[in-house]
Parts: sequence; structure tokens; C-alpha cells
Amino acid sequence: MRVLDLIVKKRDGQALKLEEIDFLVQEYVKGSIPDYQMSAFLMAAYLRGLNFEETKALTWAMIRSGEVLNLADIPGVKVDKHSTGGVGDKTTLVLVPLVAAAGAKVMKMSGRSLGHTGGTVDKLEAIPGFRVSFTPEEMKGVVLRTGAVLAGQTEGIVPADKKIYALRDVTGTVDCLPLIASSVMSKKIAGGADRVVLDVKVGPGGFLSDLQQARRLAELMAELGKEFRMKTVVLLTSMVQPLGRAVGNALEVEEAVMTLQGKGPQDLTELCLALGGEMLAAAEVVATPMDGRRKLESLLKSGAGLAKFRELIAAQGGSQEVVDDPSLLPRARRLIEVKASESGFIREVNAREIGVAVLLLGGGRLHKDDTIDPAVGVVMEKKVGDYVHAGEPLAVLHVDDESNLPEVQERVAQSFLIGEEKPSLPPLIYELIS
Ligand code: URA
Repeated sequence: MRVLDLIVKKRDGQALKLEEIDFLVQEYVKGSIPDYQMSAFLMAAYLRGLNFEETKALTWAMIRSGEVLNLADIPGVKVDKHSTGGVGDKTTLVLVPLVAAAGAKVMKMSGRSLGHTGGTVDKLEAIPGFRVSFTPEEMKGVVLRTGAVLAGQTEGIVPADKKIYALRDVTGTVDCLPLIASSVMSKKIAGGADRVVLDVKVGPGGFLSDLQQARRLAELMAELGKEFRMKTVVLLTSMVQPLGRAVGNALEVEEAVMTLQGKGPQDLTELCLALGGEMLAAAEVVATPMDGRRKLESLLKSGAGLAKFRELIAAQGGSQEVVDDPSLLPRARRLIEVKASESGFIREVNAREIGVAVLLLGGGRLHKDDTIDPAVGVVMEKKVGDYVHAGEPLAVLHVDDESNLPEVQERVAQSFLIGEEKPSLPPLIYELIS
């Protein structure tokens, strides 16, 4: 098989066979296909599309590029979750301890931030001592002891995704439905869980702004789930403004703790209850998502979710004291308010711009090897629908390195659209697809 022939075939709009896609993926992982040829193939796939059979073949080839975890020695139905990524999305930090406290078994592997979206692993690493790197056996051990683990993606699972995603990121081929679907589903299937609940973010803060496209992605992933016998539920949820109020690693840990104390922002709490209800029903801990939701509400009230978060932090070597004393988390040197220049209702907050502002403060990474500052970020004082008086703060910047400060202040100020009319609030959850 010649790589050039396969690139040309896709460029001309023809469908590739399973063995051709498998060849491309395995040889690329081995290093015998250079980045420039894989880039050409990805661009051809982006422009010409992949049909369902090709997407299934790509998912299978990605899974086959590494190991598939066997979680049979963990009793019960194992459930996983995944978000396509957004700004201020700290749901995993709340959900995993909460559903584990309800009795579900969750082996959760997460990624790092890239571009304007945050990464759960970076948030977890803001907790002093917290360890995210484990072998599969160690992860299973933590799940058996505590009910869950919050880890980074292991090297051995879907190595193809790591390489291909890095290439997509620099070749303008990220927002392509079959490539996203195979990337997400291959990791979920290789992770070994029985069921998965996916959160597809819709809006400028996520990858996809168009509801129709997000729906097609959700359907594609649910269909792949069926093919690979992984029951998949997808919620389409809003990313028109940041989720919750805090954006930035340590700040988001603090907000997750507040949410587990029952004092979190309404949108974050609501999303965690909706996703968690689905997870508990999928894990067969409860009969229906509504029963799951009620159970989670009671665990928020009783503090059991918070106690489980403490237990998980301790099990992963972290300092569980941060749960009771958030001042132990990394803190930025300066707090700077961004004030409203006019009075009115907040009509929009551009989540992407807030994400970029946090990146410019040092809280995210442009390149995968960049180091990040866990302390910095933006806390939203106002969200869509709130009224602001001129001179009142819209947001507070948590700043260490001030080199990009003027640009950050400008971006944050510009991301708020203020008007006279009170806007109707955008829905948090658009629909569910399974
Ligand atoms: N999240 C992933 O894991 N992969 C993608 O391609 C996009 C979002």
C-alpha cells in the first residue's frame, strides 16, 4: 500500500477501505508515515468527509494503536464521561466524586488544556501533591478502594490520538465531525468502561457553535457507541458563556469544592445533576436519570460528595486540606477588576474570549509543552441576564505575570455585550441523544 495513493483517493472523494485506514493509522504511529503526509490525509478527510464505515474503521484503528483496558475485576457496571471541552468546564471535578459517592464506579481519564479551552488534568494538578499519572493497574486499585479515579490519559491508550490530535491542532483540522467522533470514542472504548455519558458543548466557547452540527456529532458518537457495544448518551449543552464563574485552574478547583458544598453556581450545579443523573442510570445504580438526580441532590446536601472528593484527593497523593481551606491552593499575586463602562443588562459573554484571556495570563498553553501558572484566571462577577451599573466590576482578573495585562483587560471588557433590554437566558441543556 502506498500512502500517496490513499491521500489521492481521499482527495478525489473516494471512500477508503478499513485496511487502508488501519494502515495509515498504524504506520503513522510507528513513525513510518511523516507528518506532512498525515497532514495531507487529514485535510483531505476534512474537506471530503469520511462516511460512517470509514469513521468506524478510523475509530477501530485508533483503538488498535494501543492497549484496551479490561476492567472486569472492578465489580458492577463501569461508567465514564467526556466533555468536548469548554471554558470554565469543571464538571468532572464535581461529578466524579458525586457519582462515586452514589455508588457508581468511574475510571476517568482526562486531558490537558490546549488553546482557549481548559483541561481537567491541569485543574487537578493545581491541588498540591495531586498525582494524575498512573499505570492501568494502579488506576484500577484506586477505583477498587474509593469507587473512582481522576487520572491523566495513559501513554498506552490510543497513542494514535495523541499524535493525530497534535497534528490536527496545527493543521486546521480539529473541527471535523468524523475526526472528533473517532478521537473521543476510541479513547472511551479503549478506557474499558461499559457505558459513557458525553457532553457536547455548543457555542463559541467550545469546538462547535452550530446546534445542527453538534447534533450530527452526537448522533455519530451514539452510533459508534452502538457499533462498539458501549451504550452512549449524549447531552448537547450550552457553551455560549463560561460555565460557572471561575475560569483558571486553582480557581476552578475552588468552585468545584463550593459546588460539592451545595453553594456552587446554578448553571454548574444544574449541569452536574443532569449529567450525573444520566451516569447513575447508565451505571444501573438507579432506575431512571430523575432518580439519579434526586440521589445526587441528597448527596450534595449531606456533604457525601465533598467527603468523597477529600478521599479521592488523599488516595491520589494530594493535599485534602484544600477542601476545607482553599487558601492552600496556588494564589495569584494581584487581583484586578475589569469594570463596566456603561450600565445595562449583560446580553452576551464571549466564552472563547474569556478562555483566551486566561491563556494570555499564563493559565493555559498554546503548545503542548508550555508550562502553566495554576493560580491565574478570571472570575466572572456578572453573567448573561445580570444587570450592571457603570463602574461596577464585570470580572476580576487573578494575575501573576503582567506582560499581557493590557490585552487581557481589553479582551475581557470586550467579551461582555451590554444592552438596555434584558435578554432571554440561553438554555443550558439543548437536548439528549442516545
Ligand atoms: N475532544 C477530543 O477528545 N477529541 C477531539 O477531536 C475534540 C475534542
